[in-house]
Amino acid sequence: MKKLFSLLFPYFLFLYATGQVPMGPPPGTPQMQQNQDLIIPLGTKNISLIYKVSGRDGRLYQLYFGPKLENPDDIKLVRDQDHLAYATFGTDNLFEPAIRATHNDGNPSLELKFVTQSSETRIGGRDGVTLNKIFLKDPQYPFEATLNIKTYEYEDVIEQWVEIKHSEKKPVTIFNYASSMLHFDAEKYWLTQFHGDWAEEMKMKESELTAGIKILDSKLGTRAHMYQTPVFMLSLNEKAEENTGQVLAGTLGWSGNFRFLFEVDEKGSLRVISGINPFASEYSLDPEKVFKTPSMIFTFSATGKGQASRNLHRWATRYGILDGTGSRMTILNNWEATGFNFDEKKLSAILDNTKKLGLDVFLLDDGWFANKYPRNNDRAGLGDWQENKAKLPDGLGYLVKEADARGVKFGFWIEPEMVNPKSELYETHPDWILRLPNRPENYYRNQLVLDLTNPSVQEFVFNTVDGILTSNPGIAFIKWDCNRMMTNAYSVNLKDKQSHLYVDYVNSLYSVLERLRKKYPHLPVMLCSGGGGRVDYGALRYFTEFWASDNTDALERIYIQWGYSHFFPAISVCNHVTSWGKQSLKFRTDVAMMGKLGFDIEADKMTENELKFSQNAVITYNRIKEVIYKGDLYRLISPYDENRAVLMYVNGTKSRAVLFGYILNARYGETFDRVKLQGLDPAKTYKVQEINVPNEGRRGFGQGMSESGRTFTGDYLMKIGLNIGSNTPLTSVVYEISE
Ligand code: GLA
Repeated sequence: MKKLFSLLFPYFLFLYATGQVPMGPPPGTPQMQQNQDLIIPLGTKNISLIYKVSGRDGRLYQLYFGPKLENPDDIKLVRDQDHLAYATFGTDNLFEPAIRATHNDGNPSLELKFVTQSSETRIGGRDGVTLNKIFLKDPQYPFEATLNIKTYEYEDVIEQWVEIKHSEKKPVTIFNYASSMLHFDAEKYWLTQFHGDWAEEMKMKESELTAGIKILDSKLGTRAHMYQTPVFMLSLNEKAEENTGQVLAGTLGWSGNFRFLFEVDEKGSLRVISGINPFASEYSLDPEKVFKTPSMIFTFSATGKGQASRNLHRWATRYGILDGTGSRMTILNNWEATGFNFDEKKLSAILDNTKKLGLDVFLLDDGWFANKYPRNNDRAGLGDWQENKAKLPDGLGYLVKEADARGVKFGFWIEPEMVNPKSELYETHPDWILRLPNRPENYYRNQLVLDLTNPSVQEFVFNTVDGILTSNPGIAFIKWDCNRMMTNAYSVNLKDKQSHLYVDYVNSLYSVLERLRKKYPHLPVMLCSGGGGRVDYGALRYFTEFWASDNTDALERIYIQWGYSHFFPAISVCNHVTSWGKQSLKFRTDVAMMGKLGFDIEADKMTENELKFSQNAVITYNRIKEVIYKGDLYRLISPYDENRAVLMYVNGTKSRAVLFGYILNARYGETFDRVKLQGLDPAKTYKVQEINVPNEGRRGFGQGMSESGRTFTGDYLMKIGLNIGSNTPLTSVVYEISE
């Protein structure tokens, strides 16, 4: 009898039913009523995510996901569409599964039934953060999956991941292992993807989903987001606008191969399956080991894309990015100004310029290391992380001291996951490199990827970074690069488990970063990957900011930064003023100021006026950066819609705002409508003041100027708006708006 009860216990647990709607049972309080459903209502301030355990079959279904249902009783009226919450493969599911596994006896099917659930509030001591766990198990096999659903009440964000475990005798192969599965029943579905390439990241494209499958994914292994950033927006019924429409915004926290799969079935229902890309990645899971998927992070807005972005920004600064609520340093970088060609004298002059421009830190880029094969171009030296004696006879320590003497800080570039065949590292550790036997090595930027799955390589990477930091105390910044994807990849270390490579690489990278972060919890580190080739919230737990693109042409940048702004807050997006674009210095500076400002320019070649303008811009930036870093973003006019782009940031108390306006082009006789501001307090009175005006006066932007220096109510600014127009292409305006 006892045995029978313990066998049936999981079954009894799910049979618990309230008969009414509120929360499911505390674990361990079964009520033995058969054939009744158990409702598990989760959600945040404005979102409901409601699951149902069916009394009929014990499976977990998604009953509802969307805007908050205010009346609990309404849940009973929701039409059940039998949407499996975490669909398996092999039994009766006819569409794409979230999980697939083959058991020890060769049985290729998986069945998951509800066992129990738990819920813990105030996770990490934070108000409004709740971790809900739903335990599912195969009734025939000792195989379980725990859905983790973390809800962030105030930010309206949900984070989902899954833990998979079994206690079969031998390893079980798992083929699919999604982080989350969501279902929608709408008239139509509009998907916005953010794809690109080197120097053209985050291009937005919206298209309607039709019956069948659409996949957004990466198979690149490293620098995995080069063609597609792991983000998307999905609009229900009609195309979403900034302030109207129902929008899901989702992003996977994973710095490797990802996959978002959108499948519209014969009834017009949509399932969205997000997670690591199962492509060539079947995973042999040992008994009792937990396979933890990365987090899928999403929000839902019933009032358009703008709110979805603001939700993610708030979540990101509080929970997603290292020190997201702190401040950031302004940078002078030397990559575009000097390339590989520098010595101590040149760098001392750049340190002078860092000070002269009023910037916080000088970031020494690529080219400072390697001796046997000096890093004088991108064909040699990668992997040999000792200062090049010809360029830096006195080492990095000298530069730290020189920086200190000028009252600025020093940082350095590193790309520790990579190796050039022309390097001592390549000669001494051929087995540390990912490359296929019986095939030629395949290069990209003349380099190869190190095998981070190998613990000795992890040790090497940790020791390299740690070694530089400990032998040069005072280093205040790092730029961590990753300039190639995986091709012809094979790991000696993984032996017969080559299909683990894509997954294990990323987890190994995270474990090195974790170790570094234990020792250096707050050192600012910029995440870079040949521009924005690896940007996601899995990595940003360890990084304070990211290099959005190598393309620093200010016109291109408006589009690139526009794209990123949908998912990543301004505090994390590094933008540098450079000489790549041919626009005016003011235009280039205004564009860079929309996020985390830096410079990569030959300051010595600046005219007096340009220097003065830049110095003032840095002072201005330091005054307003708090609003940009922590304010709410309102995208007012999209460069995808008009020949101009306008956006603004408003601080929490609506007492300060900063508006950026850019004319991209102006056709003959073209006029621009007034722009209605957003996010202000209608009852407050604001002074509108143009800032960042060049000494020699400004070019273009005639239409708007009369409004600078005047005072308006928030109501006026939001209902009538400001003139943000000019007949001169590539001109810009920045307004500081203060109560
Ligand atoms: C990558 C980065 C650049 C620069 C170079 C150096 O391309 O994106 O910013 O650091 O590497 O080689």
